[in-house]
Amino acid sequence: MVKLTGYKKVKTAVFISGTGSNLRSLIKFSKIKNSPISINLIISNNPDAKGLNLGKINKIKKKVFNFKKKLKIENQILSCLKKHEIKLICLAGFMKILSKNFIVKFKGKILNIHPSLLPKYKGLNTHQRALDNNEKYSGCTVHFVNSKLDSGKIILQKKVKISKNETKVSLSKKVLVQEHKLYPKAILKVFNL
Ligand code: GRF
Repeated sequence: MVKLTGYKKVKTAVFISGTGSNLRSLIKFSKIKNSPISINLIISNNPDAKGLNLGKINKIKKKVFNFKKKLKIENQILSCLKKHEIKLICLAGFMKILSKNFIVKFKGKILNIHPSLLPKYKGLNTHQRALDNNEKYSGCTVHFVNSKLDSGKIILQKKVKISKNETKVSLSKKVLVQEHKLYPKAILKVFNL
């Protein structure tokens, strides 16, 4: 459990790779007076991630790291997080797998959102796999990150019904709407609020 100290919001970094719609919802949430977090840093592996624009608009520092030499880069990220006094990491559509070495350094302080009802459909292409298996429901999950992909302790989940003519595009849109609500709720839960 992440502890809140005094009245200060917990400095948080959001890691993204793409559009950043979850980042947008987290920024909105962080600005609420009673939110336990502030977003102080945006990190991306992708210089073209659309979500990076949100840094500019919201005056949040952003950093892009090239993950070709992962271990070296992760050490640079750790220094950057330290410099910015980051105490919580939210992965939001971040498409790189962090090493055990990195995760251990932020044990219990890295959260992720995944577009399926974990433990079902870990990894990529979740919506198509759920449709191929004729699932009646899908959804999204916020969980703590451990060294096994999409396997850390579940914090919260939201179910959505799969319609008759659902496609992976319509399902992903439907799930994404719920992701934007679920991530803030899960953060409140992590802080016992
Ligand atoms: C979300 O569905 C997230 O769960 C998945 O990638 C998508 C990212 O969307 N891992 P966005 O970049 O937050 O818009």
